Amino acid sequence: GVDSNIRPGTLAEYIGQPVVREQMEVFIEAARRRQEALDHTLIFGPPGLGKTTLANIIAREMGGNLRSTSGPVLERAGDLAAMLTNLEEGDVLFIDEIHRLSPVIEEILYPAMEDFQLDIMIGEGPAARSIKLDLPPFTLVAATTRAGLLTSPLRDRFGIVQRLEFYNIEDLTTIVSRSARLMNVEMTAEGAVEVARRSRGTPRIANRLLRRVRDYAEVKSNGKVTGDIADSALDMLAVDRRGLDHLDRRYIEMVHARFDGGPAGVEAIAAAMAEDRGTLEDVIEPYLIQQGYVLRTARGRVLTQMAIDQL
Ligand code: ADE
Repeated sequence: GVDSNIRPGTLAEYIGQPVVREQMEVFIEAARRRQEALDHTLIFGPPGLGKTTLANIIAREMGGNLRSTSGPVLERAGDLAAMLTNLEEGDVLFIDEIHRLSPVIEEILYPAMEDFQLDIMIGEGPAARSIKLDLPPFTLVAATTRAGLLTSPLRDRFGIVQRLEFYNIEDLTTIVSRSARLMNVEMTAEGAVEVARRSRGTPRIANRLLRRVRDYAEVKSNGKVTGDIADSALDMLAVDRRGLDHLDRRYIEMVHARFDGGPAGVEAIAAAMAEDRGTLEDVIEPYLIQQGYVLRTARGRVLTQMAIDQL
């Protein structure tokens, strides 16, 4: 991807997520000393917070290859069998969107995770046979937007579960400054803070905005990203000063206008916005809730005064 050259390659370079970083340092070091594969690891959290980056780092820190796939791509038993039989000892198999695995594939994954055994049927009818193969010890790193979307037998097979949180402004500022340095963009501390503040707690957004702010600075000025330049660039891009994006704003406006601020059921809000319920629950709501714009109550979603104030 466009971020491959600025992605951190080691835990030491990884900024923010202190709980995840501290725990993973211990677990990785322990596995390394025992010369064992790291336990299977589930990473969950909203998009853009670094789930794939973390999978890359785990593979690198463990000295294994990273083999990547995703839930929807694994359609047939043979697709997963091909990935598993290509693994070498200590490799990391990364499955993104693990909540979208088909039940058939999930069944194959259980013995692979638990006993490093591949157990599949080949052929059909009277010629069908079951074959069993030993797999090398490997680590499954799986990512999902919400752990609640996994079946419990699958969730129970992960020895390590990490939840990524939205980044605070300070950590995002550090990430933006680091990216600017790697991209040879001259940027002041104020410029970095301005980009960080308007990035919805999300490094992927921060790095995207940094590229656009750089464009603006090169064309409208001398290429140096100051606070004022960042501010003008982000205004031109219609990025909200609070870091809310257009979906966030539509959500707040809709709950206010159609549901009188709530309580409103997530299905009803999704229908009114003509959006998928999953997008609301995985992408829009986590940030609005974390920032204190929306409350999730037993009777439905409710806007806070802060949300109403910013309409
Ligand atoms: N780029 C994106 N996410 C990052 C992180 N957590 N640390 C450092 N650089 C990043």
